[in-house]
Amino acid sequence: MQNTDAALALRSSFDAHGQGHTFRHFDALTPAAREQFLAQLESVDLALIARLARAGADAKQDFSALKPAPYVALGADSTDARNVGEAILRAGKVAAFTVAGGQGTRLGWRGPKGTYPATAVTGRPLFRVFAEQIAAAEKRYGCAIPWYIMTSPLNDEDTRAFFRDNNWFGRNPADTFMFPQGTMPSVTFDGKLMLETPGSLAVNPDGHGGAVRALSASGALEDMRARGIEHMSYFQVDNPLVRIADPVFLGFHAANGGMSSGEMSSKMVAKRDAAEKVGVFCDLGGKTGVVEYSDMPAELTTAVNAHGQLRFNAGSIAIHAISVAFLERLASGGEDGSFALPFHRAKKKVPYWCESQAKTVEPAEPNATKFEAFIFDALALAAKSLVMETSRVEEFAPIKNASGDDSPASSHQIQSNRNGAWLEKFGVKVPRRPNGDVDARIEILAETALEAGDLADAALPREIKAGDEVVL
Ligand code: UTP
Repeated sequence: MQNTDAALALRSSFDAHGQGHTFRHFDALTPAAREQFLAQLESVDLALIARLARAGADAKQDFSALKPAPYVALGADSTDARNVGEAILRAGKVAAFTVAGGQGTRLGWRGPKGTYPATAVTGRPLFRVFAEQIAAAEKRYGCAIPWYIMTSPLNDEDTRAFFRDNNWFGRNPADTFMFPQGTMPSVTFDGKLMLETPGSLAVNPDGHGGAVRALSASGALEDMRARGIEHMSYFQVDNPLVRIADPVFLGFHAANGGMSSGEMSSKMVAKRDAAEKVGVFCDLGGKTGVVEYSDMPAELTTAVNAHGQLRFNAGSIAIHAISVAFLERLASGGEDGSFALPFHRAKKKVPYWCESQAKTVEPAEPNATKFEAFIFDALALAAKSLVMETSRVEEFAPIKNASGDDSPASSHQIQSNRNGAWLEKFGVKVPRRPNGDVDARIEILAETALEAGDLADAALPREIKAGDEVVL
């Protein structure tokens, strides 16, 4: 498009929006670099950026009428739900969906986060853990569970290469569908687009909420329709204990108010304490939604009920069941055709092209605003939404940070704790430390057991000794 009328029009539109500085090095670029840069600039919605940058901080919400969201409590009768869930699995109506487009900056791993060695003994990468679980569920229910994976333009190629190199983990390649999400440009605190290099803007993936648009634009939703998929089991790439295609959860979701009518459902765990930094499921004027910990007024965060328990205790663990029909509705946008989910802003450290040093520089302090959409904002748009409580040790061992809370070390401990508890149900003696943690590394493969009850048929040791490493 270079030197054409269209390129000139683009340049004057950037000028008109006060973003003309992005063309500062344009004339010095090679023809190929110009072409590439113009394609990136063309994809920027200047009016949207101007609106988001002008809006300043996210508007403060009014929480005066906030109530805790109702939920299906742990231990509730789940027989009917399991039957419904197993029926839709057997009928091939369920897909797995992983959001794996994040940048994983806190963990600092060199590749896509899904390639991180996550399990407690064999160090299986996250993607392999999920692939093996999906394969075990396919075998159990005699169906294909197609797996949709959202990458980003920043990690798409590396993710595909990892699957190719691992021979798609033994599953049919046609049953794994990868697609990159969109990006949003970062802006300086005064709303200016930033250059990462002379011929590229600094951009970031547009948040897990970008899944709404990307699922539609990539043809993934259409592919689901063609396969007869009605519901997706949504999970993040960083939780090796996630229970993919959980029949009980899918059953509660699908039968919410009548067979197959649930639009978006969520799992929650009781918050560890008031200070835990997780979003909380709340009733937002008759609709379920997640209120971020940072937005919640302190007096509500610490409020207790008559039993002395936290009043707002339903912590989100980012596990959802979402119906295909609901996503199709969201993806078609509002009446004006606009994207259905709002963008949130966060102050971040964004590498930028430093003119004086003539190189890309990593700032020491936050220097920019990133815009991201969150999938849980879709909850408020769902006609039918249900929250189900689950046990933290059963299915929440996230890997976010390199050390401390939510790190590989804490995840390994939770994995061993869960697996130790499963074995104890069958009389195996498991060593525990005074704080209750299992004092051994225990890994249970998906082909051995998807849930504790499956161990009834497995050959189990009678005792595990302190410090042992056990793989079953
Ligand atoms: P996080 O909020 O933990 O962000 O993502 P992150 O980018 O992975 O990690 P940090 O904050 O840079 O350390 C939660 C989940 O949402 C996905 C991530 O891949 C992860 O599974 N995600 C996040 C996306 O798919 N796209 C995004 O734009 C952001």
